[in-house]
Amino acid sequence: MCGIIGYIGEKQAAPILIDGLKKLEYRGYDSSGVGVISSGPNGGMRPVPSKVILRKSHGKIQNLEELIKSRPFPESCIGISHTRWATHGAPNRVNAHPHSDCEGKILIVHNGIIENYEPLRDALRKRGHRIVSDTDTEVVAHLIEENNRGDLVQAVQKAIKQLDGAFALAIISSDYPDTLIAARVGSPLIIGLGKNENFVASDVPAILEHTKKIIYLKDQQMAVLKKDSVRVFWFGGKAVKPKVDVVKFHMDAVQKQGYAHFMLKEIHEQPDVLAQMIKSRLKGNQVILDGFGLTEAQLKGIKNIALIACGTAYHAGLVGRYVIEKLTGIPVMVDAASEFRYRDPIVDKSTLIVAISQSGETADTLAAVREAKSKGGKVIAICNVVGSSLTREADGVLYTHAGPEIGVASTKAYVAQIAMLYLMALKLSAHRKKIAARARLRIIRDFKRVPALYKDILKHKNAIAVIARKNSHFGCFLFLGRNVNYPSALEGALKLKEISYIPAEGYPAGEMKHGPIALIDEYRAVVCIAPQSEVYEKMISNMQEIRARKGKIIAIATEGDQAIKAHANHVVYIPKTNSLLTPLLVALPLQLIAYYIAVQLGCDVDQPRNLAKSVTVE
Ligand code: F6R
Repeated sequence: MCGIIGYIGEKQAAPILIDGLKKLEYRGYDSSGVGVISSGPNGGMRPVPSKVILRKSHGKIQNLEELIKSRPFPESCIGISHTRWATHGAPNRVNAHPHSDCEGKILIVHNGIIENYEPLRDALRKRGHRIVSDTDTEVVAHLIEENNRGDLVQAVQKAIKQLDGAFALAIISSDYPDTLIAARVGSPLIIGLGKNENFVASDVPAILEHTKKIIYLKDQQMAVLKKDSVRVFWFGGKAVKPKVDVVKFHMDAVQKQGYAHFMLKEIHEQPDVLAQMIKSRLKGNQVILDGFGLTEAQLKGIKNIALIACGTAYHAGLVGRYVIEKLTGIPVMVDAASEFRYRDPIVDKSTLIVAISQSGETADTLAAVREAKSKGGKVIAICNVVGSSLTREADGVLYTHAGPEIGVASTKAYVAQIAMLYLMALKLSAHRKKIAARARLRIIRDFKRVPALYKDILKHKNAIAVIARKNSHFGCFLFLGRNVNYPSALEGALKLKEISYIPAEGYPAGEMKHGPIALIDEYRAVVCIAPQSEVYEKMISNMQEIRARKGKIIAIATEGDQAIKAHANHVVYIPKTNSLLTPLLVALPLQLIAYYIAVQLGCDVDQPRNLAKSVTVE
């Protein structure tokens, strides 16, 4: 939520900042801004004092770029910038970051929420400060101003002591044109190390073009960046010798590479993501879960499992519950992380907590993890982003290594999450007698075939696009599934509504008669997930009930099932596989249906309204 990039070096700051912001636009895109410090001689005639120069705009970064083109910055080698997802205050120019102090000398950009900003703001106003925006952020600039006694670092230290909440901050001041300060609590912030240049950013893609050497700033740490040095220390002042990581991914990973949208590119990456996971995690029939952090004895001692996650990752957890219970017999609870804390969950030392998150920065998931740990539970993270907050707080990490996911709607991360849950279930099943060894081996064999089956489905994507287009006029969709594919129905509905804005409900098909059937008429489309399985006949009955009420049906069925055509208006086929594995396969046509409908409706697929990629506020 919100993206930050700052630069200090020898190059012109503004183009680097704008370019970096575009890579972070997935984090928020309702307004943006760049602030730089100009300094130096005025044509060699007389020294000109440094001053800050700001350009801010509402809407997407393109607007900001056009503004800067029409009113270019003067020369400047230091600056900070921000793309916003509004929390406090409307998404307009005034509330866009950077924010400044009364004198317009200090500039700050912020990701997170300052929870006590109202009393701070009221007190600052009483002391004569002019606060012009509705944001929680602006108070920080004024607090720094108030505490500035000739040492910017100390002023920042004193100011942040007064803050409650979460923040990643980047700060510059025209009185210190050779210094860029970064500080974090709760919200992610990284430092990029270059040659005679250094960077601060919310996430790696923003600076990947310039450096692969990264310091992941920890909570309660600050950094002072000069063009040729970086000093990291705890808020209290104690110096830190930071670990420098070298990130592996290439620029291709954060570019569209000819695809119309990141979402489509990421959908196409899924077979490779799965193949890579299988290669590294399955040696013969043995599941290798490096990072799990549990001994064989601890694995045997697990009495129950709690899966916690938000949104799409929560749906992955719901699939995981079916799979783990069926393969291991271990009771599993699944909670939306935002609810977990409030229901006083029964968790103890024998509970394995599995927190699932693409970003590893989702505030509710992190809060749920802290709650679970406080009750003695052991926490394993299934996470995509290396070094994220979740991975640092968990006792063990299973990285999905799906590569950067830029499209706001999660696709490859979801598939990687459920694949990892299958692997976890297979690993745990080796210690239990819930399924026969031969059956377990058959699942492993079929699991290994999934990447190839994905490629088969992708060959038919044009046919899926035609079906999607034909149904894009429906004003309301219902997604129905049973058993392992009930969560698939939830996920299919979520994908559609978030990128096309069409109201869509996911339901267990058996529940349809208990209410949603009232929705059915000739103006509703119903996606029925009905691959061959033990609940197939029941799905067919549901489809007959829908047809009897004139509802229009898109069925997702197993290749070769000709009979289903009699009950559906359109059929999308997936290859035959073990019924337990079908959520992995049906995810793909569901993503494609949502994608092509959204494109047909002219929606902004990669940056749907009101959404942001990672939700770092509760
Ligand atoms: C939907 C989507 C969100 C995320 C949710 C959790 O397409 O992407 O629902 O799944 O915000 O995010 P992570 O996985 O980063 O914790």
